[in-house]
Amino acid sequence: MSGPFPPLIDRFGRVHQSLRISVTDACNIRCRYCMPEQVAGFLPQHRLLSFEHITKVVTALAGSSIRKLRITGGEPLMRPQLPQLVSQLRSIPEIEKIAMTTNGMMLEESASSLVEAGLSHFNISLDTLQEETFHRLTRREGVHRVLAGIEGAIRTKASVRLNALIMRDINFDDILPLVEFALERGLVLRFIEFMPLDADRQWSRQQVVSGAELRALLQQRFGSIEPITRTESSQPSTDYRIANQLGVVGFIDPVSSPFCEQCDRLRLTADGKFRNCLFGREEWDVGRLCRENASVAQIHTLALDCVRSKHASHGISDSQFQQPERAMYQIGG
Ligand code: 5AD
Ligand code: SF4
Repeated sequence: MSGPFPPLIDRFGRVHQSLRISVTDACNIRCRYCMPEQVAGFLPQHRLLSFEHITKVVTALAGSSIRKLRITGGEPLMRPQLPQLVSQLRSIPEIEKIAMTTNGMMLEESASSLVEAGLSHFNISLDTLQEETFHRLTRREGVHRVLAGIEGAIRTKASVRLNALIMRDINFDDILPLVEFALERGLVLRFIEFMPLDADRQWSRQQVVSGAELRALLQQRFGSIEPITRTESSQPSTDYRIANQLGVVGFIDPVSSPFCEQCDRLRLTADGKFRNCLFGREEWDVGRLCRENASVAQIHTLALDCVRSKHASHGISDSQFQQPERAMYQIGG
């Protein structure tokens, strides 16, 4: 590590290289696995960490071990002028990759300006191809906008991956059509297991469709599926190639097989708090430091404090497990 600050290493030796930056808690849809139907209110503009402060935080952490950024929300494209933030972050020399996780609804219009600003990877949520199921899942209309967003992202030549979350009673029938959709386009599709982070607290194991169950379904449909050797050990997904097909299907199984041992992620919430885990119960107020005009060294020290308090794993399966107070859209996916 060449920066002026020591690397962000936790008590278990995990070196933190990725920062997930939530830029807003607002969203234009209401996925059942994330948001409530009625939201009391999103963060007002003045409580959001400004672009200037986000850039300062990233500069501090890039002087340590952070190399990869992911912009998330809520729905990140609800925050105006995102390309401006991307280009500010792009100009930090140590940053090697800037990615975004989006629901795709507003991507058709914005994909090219984001890529011009320096974004190189899109992860787009696609849980169904059917309008009716989309409505049941998100309480909104517009799967065609997501599909147009995917096409728009593909046109930019940036890397495009799809994320699907299956809730047994809602979109189980979409599993194979989603795989076929991805394979036809030569895209990577990743299934992510439903985690207890929904605002409605309706999560139950019965609703989770595990990676193992999905793989069995694919084996039945496609015959052989072959695991691909991982290129990055911190990558949470196990990817498979399907015989005679271009695309790749991956599985992110945080519930049935936690990958916490490999976790290299630190999170920054839209209201300027560091978190060391989705399931963490503590936050470190970096927004306050920024408003007090703290130095990058002080910001780095706070991040190191946060990382050093990280637990070995999320403990979803522990008997004392408690769902965190904040839901997914308030933490950043
Ligand atoms: N469990 C797992 N993943 C979730 N996401 C949102 N809520 C949950 C949850 N409860 C992920 C989905 C979504 C992305 C923005 O965050 O993959 O596409
Ligand atoms: Fe919005 Fe993403 Fe949450 Fe769905 S998962 S409600 S798209 S923030």
